[in-house]
Amino acid sequence: MCGIIGYNGTADATPLLLDGLQKLEYRGYDSAGIAVYDNDEIDVVKSRGKIEDLRQKIAKGHVPHGTLGIGHTRWATHGQPSDDNAHPHYSASRKFAVVHNGIIENFAERKEELLKKGYVFHSETDTEVVAMLLDENDCGDFLRTVLKTLSQLTGSFALGVLCQDEPETMICAKRSCPLLVAVSDEGNYIASDITAVLAHTRHMYKMEDDEVAVVGKDSIAFYNTDGEPIGKQLETVTWDVSAAEKGGYPHFMIKEIMEQPEAVRNTFSPRITEDGTVKLDDIDLTDDMIRGFHKINIVGCGSAYHVGLVARYVIEQLARIPVEVDLASEFRYRYPLVDEHTLTIVISQSGETADSLEALREAKRLGSRTLSVVNVVGSSIATESDDVLYTWAGPEISVATTKAYSTQLIVMDLLAIRFALATGALSPSAAAEILAEMEKLPGKIEKIFEQTDKIERIAESFTFLHHAYFIGRNIDYAVGLEASLKLKEVSYIHSEAYAGGELKHGTISLIEPGTQVVALCGCERLVDKTVSNAKELMARGAHVLGIAVEGNTDVQNIADKVIYIPETLPVLQPSLEIVPMQLLGYYTAVARKCDVDQPRNLAKSVTVE
Ligand code: AGP
Repeated sequence: MCGIIGYNGTADATPLLLDGLQKLEYRGYDSAGIAVYDNDEIDVVKSRGKIEDLRQKIAKGHVPHGTLGIGHTRWATHGQPSDDNAHPHYSASRKFAVVHNGIIENFAERKEELLKKGYVFHSETDTEVVAMLLDENDCGDFLRTVLKTLSQLTGSFALGVLCQDEPETMICAKRSCPLLVAVSDEGNYIASDITAVLAHTRHMYKMEDDEVAVVGKDSIAFYNTDGEPIGKQLETVTWDVSAAEKGGYPHFMIKEIMEQPEAVRNTFSPRITEDGTVKLDDIDLTDDMIRGFHKINIVGCGSAYHVGLVARYVIEQLARIPVEVDLASEFRYRYPLVDEHTLTIVISQSGETADSLEALREAKRLGSRTLSVVNVVGSSIATESDDVLYTWAGPEISVATTKAYSTQLIVMDLLAIRFALATGALSPSAAAEILAEMEKLPGKIEKIFEQTDKIERIAESFTFLHHAYFIGRNIDYAVGLEASLKLKEVSYIHSEAYAGGELKHGTISLIEPGTQVVALCGCERLVDKTVSNAKELMARGAHVLGIAVEGNTDVQNIADKVIYIPETLPVLQPSLEIVPMQLLGYYTAVARKCDVDQPRNLAKSVTVE
């Protein structure tokens, strides 16, 4: 995520950049900075913390003055939140300054090449590589230098660049990250979203992938990455500030659901080598260490715990290492059998959940090696665990987690493959097949979005329910628990998830005419069993919504309604199966006029026991 703003005009840039960053703070808030063209030099000021910290640093120190500048508010991916890792980043010669959103996937290779050439880096970021490459490629022509640099980058980016030789120009470019160029009477802006500039203008050019803009004080020229000029249409937005923060969506929850393809891609792609194998070089676990673990313990709360339940099936199936999954609040008090032969994995979006943090500490105290899967860089759980794998989902604002859950699944799948390669349970070619399928997940999630209207209509039929039950077996049951949580936490409809085989042991007595059941039938191996359970419930008057893999007619034959999801490998099915369930929860809550992003009694980060 992160936020970018840039200004080139006639007014003082510093206050405009700071005000714009303030509006973008919801996109990232661990550090911020600005670069202003001031008296023939690019003046950079940056600070760890919120925009207010940057304002204070500027007020107490030197205030850059100029009418051209770029600014950035950061949500850390590569490197902890710190002054050094904050953007903008200078090139080695300080001729260029860069702000960047996204992830440069080949930054490690490029950095190694640059280090060999004698470049000295001052941050741990992937962005600084872009700044250094600008020096390396400097041909005296600003645009050509940027184009050459872009051709050497893989991954996702929105970039804003200043050049000391060009006091009248900034350049921006994008690939897979949002960016726009806005036009006002006092000059032109670049911004990662319109929120940053709504106070000044509603007129903007929306940039598409692999487009570059050369932005002057009263001119804007667009190019493709071959340097050929392209024409673009000026658009006018009618959003108010709150709609703009949500990218035009009515709630953060739906915005974040829709961001999942990008979040999954960002979490997956940088961890895959060019020859298609998994590389988790952010952790220090060797093959020998992995082979030495007798057991893996996974702990988390709420949705993070549900990810652990899915991961148990995946790790045990692929790596053949026994896995135990605990609610963090239970683990810490159950005298767990954990020792130096156990790996404890703590999953947490915020990295600050009190019970998960205490479970981590308990595991460490008992001698276990610890690994955390966390979204917030530099959070307590990330800092205190031996290894950390970040989910690069970007800031998640809605209390109900969606994109963090999906990226946690991806990280756990990657870990399972890494473990399986180390134990020898999976051959490199079988691993490559799974990874190739994982690469297709973002596209398949987008495909599910084509059914959004249909799911919204189904959700309307849930509006007046008092209870709903989710059933499934094995990995579908694990997804059912999350689907049930998604529905109940935002719509306040009582819901439970049951393992299909357990129904006859008590739960079936709850079924009466009109009871709503959702049957999760993604697990190919057990679909017949779940279909039989659904039939038994329908015979007692239940209404059944089936979730099935495209082409499965068995479910269609029995269920009242079916939502189809694309086919993938059984171990990856949860990544697709959960998406319509998130949409169902969301639209049911909307139909019931609930406070979707901030459900009653809940907090985003639970930092007390
Ligand atoms: C799910 O939508 C909830 N927000 C909640 O269950 C959450 O997953 C849980 O509180 C854990 O939070 P964490 O991932 O920040 O540790």
